Amino acid sequence: MSEQRKILVTSALPYANGSIHLGHMVETVQTDIWVRFQKMRGHDCIYVCADDAHGTAIMLTAEKLGITSEQQIANMKAEHQQDFADFHIGFDNYHSTHSAENKTLAELIYNRLKANGHIAERMITQAYDPEKGLFLADRYIKGTCPKCKTPDQYGDNCEACGATYSPMDLIDPKSAISDATPVAKESKHLFFKLPEFTDYLREWTRAGHLQDEVANKLAEWLDGGLKEWDISRDAPYFGFEIPGEKDKYFYVWLDAPIGYMASCLQYCEREGMDFDSYWAPNSKAEVYHFIGKDIINFHALFWPAMLSSAQFRTPTKVCAHGFLTVNGKKMSKSRGTFINARTYLDHLDPEYLRYYYASKLTAGVDDLDLNLEDFVARVNSDLVGKVVNIASRTAKFIQQHGGVLSQEIADTALWQKFVDASEPIAQLYEAREFSRAMREIMALADAANEYIATKAPWSMAKEPGREKEVLAVCTLGINMFTALMTWLKPVLPKTAAAAEEFLDTELTWRNATIFLGGHKINAFKPLMQRVELDKVNRMIETSKAEAPSPTATPTGWLAKEPVATEIEYADFAKVDLRIAKIIAAEPVAGADKLLQLTLDLGGETRNVFAGIKSAYDPTTLVGKHTVMVANLKPRKMKFGMSEGMVLAAGPGGKDLFLLEPDNGAEPGMKVM
Ligand code: 2FM
Ligand code: ZN
Repeated sequence: MSEQRKILVTSALPYANGSIHLGHMVETVQTDIWVRFQKMRGHDCIYVCADDAHGTAIMLTAEKLGITSEQQIANMKAEHQQDFADFHIGFDNYHSTHSAENKTLAELIYNRLKANGHIAERMITQAYDPEKGLFLADRYIKGTCPKCKTPDQYGDNCEACGATYSPMDLIDPKSAISDATPVAKESKHLFFKLPEFTDYLREWTRAGHLQDEVANKLAEWLDGGLKEWDISRDAPYFGFEIPGEKDKYFYVWLDAPIGYMASCLQYCEREGMDFDSYWAPNSKAEVYHFIGKDIINFHALFWPAMLSSAQFRTPTKVCAHGFLTVNGKKMSKSRGTFINARTYLDHLDPEYLRYYYASKLTAGVDDLDLNLEDFVARVNSDLVGKVVNIASRTAKFIQQHGGVLSQEIADTALWQKFVDASEPIAQLYEAREFSRAMREIMALADAANEYIATKAPWSMAKEPGREKEVLAVCTLGINMFTALMTWLKPVLPKTAAAAEEFLDTELTWRNATIFLGGHKINAFKPLMQRVELDKVNRMIETSKAEAPSPTATPTGWLAKEPVATEIEYADFAKVDLRIAKIIAAEPVAGADKLLQLTLDLGGETRNVFAGIKSAYDPTTLVGKHTVMVANLKPRKMKFGMSEGMVLAAGPGGKDLFLLEPDNGAEPGMKVM
């Protein structure tokens, strides 16, 4: 065995604003397997993580729930930790970015960046919600796309036509928080001078810390020129106040990666370890960050630049992985494939998923598909049909001999194959080529099963005088099973623990190929159940039921999904649909999309603004009947109050068709 390495491993800190789902689990499972492998190899490896607890979203969620941000993050942290623990993720420490350690480190790092002249200040203009008293990030502004006129677009790009724009260019922009019209407001912001690190980063990104495809992508960004990074946010904000500033907070992404250090610091203080041995510039320890490919810029540009300015070591490796798809598509709430960790755990054994992910994970950044049929087939065939089967077919014959294994290696060539495989499998784990490792392991499981099937100890056992031979064949079977379970231990810690009890030995990499001869084992108990497709289907149904029904869009004729999630009749019955007669229709000054309609509801008139100007000349509408939502709460728009909504169909633009019943229905009649 090579020299003992000291390794610190992290996976990305999940936001304290939502539950853990199977997408998160790709990363934590990948990281946990790698860490467990390193520990089995005898290295001093620790795995730390934390909740990413800061930012506007968390503050707003807490407000909505009527609790403090502190309470919200405490609740989420408890939930996250339980989910991870139940998936057998073996963190050595799990902390929060909203912690004393993180505050101290964030301030220390910021002060060093500032002292080194790496912080700039300037005024910027942003959208501001005058009602809420809050600067609005792009995702909190919604309005109509200036290009294709699709209503209800968030942020700085249109989901319908792909146009990109400044959120203030949206037609009739609204704060998604209060519905107020945002105003432009100036404030001072602090920036990290990233461009000054261009040469440093050109070198760093090519120095073996990154996957090649990641380094190539970063080279494109570096060539395109880096921009200064805005690291401050104005109050109100849930985070740490910036030292020396008033009402300014660190942007969540400034203190998030520092959370890795904070969690490590908490671990070191608790365990009496030396924090500097991990983070000092001359540290001999290795630091590995496992992350998703969407947050590479934070980890491979901002983070090493900050660390180097602040006189800390930089990561040994940043290991990026791809996204999870389910049945070949993006996870979807309406399809029931956006599966929360807890929903999975309520239906299925976590080790099934750990194995399935392992069987698909590579060292690259390609997306990983969870194909649910393949999931059932693969787990049943590989784990139950191949690996566990070896023990269940041979154990009883050992028990017939008092549970003591033979000293004899019945087929030395076959055993040698196992001995020779151990180091190459270790190398695949080390390189994060888990899918190849699983293939090697399963090929050896096939060889073991073939051997047992050929020898057929169950037939031999019926022939008097062949007891020794039966024992030797089954002993080899048990030894092959021992080696396979050892190599699978990083992936299947719970099954491996049960196997250890059965084999009465600790499964370590070193022992994997030391033949267990003359050793007494315990009675065999079933180690794993088959996956039932039924349970998978029930999990999908539960996920569908958990999905929130899509929020009605204010000008809602452009459903983004072909068919929305089912609703109860009682929900439908709340919508009061009425026949309305258009008695006046006018263009609206300053709105290129809206018509102002005066609707007769049979004795009552309503004023409604409708985004149908692209399709209708207002003069042609007067006198027509249409259908309206009569009990929609009046909405204050820039041009006046809108007292309902007319119904139309179509993709938008010229293809927008107002519903026009012409069968004698009269204004005011209820539509059923
Ligand atoms: O993307 C995310 O979910 C972030 N919460 C990850 C943070 S990773 C680290 F930098 F803290
Ligand atoms: Zn658009």
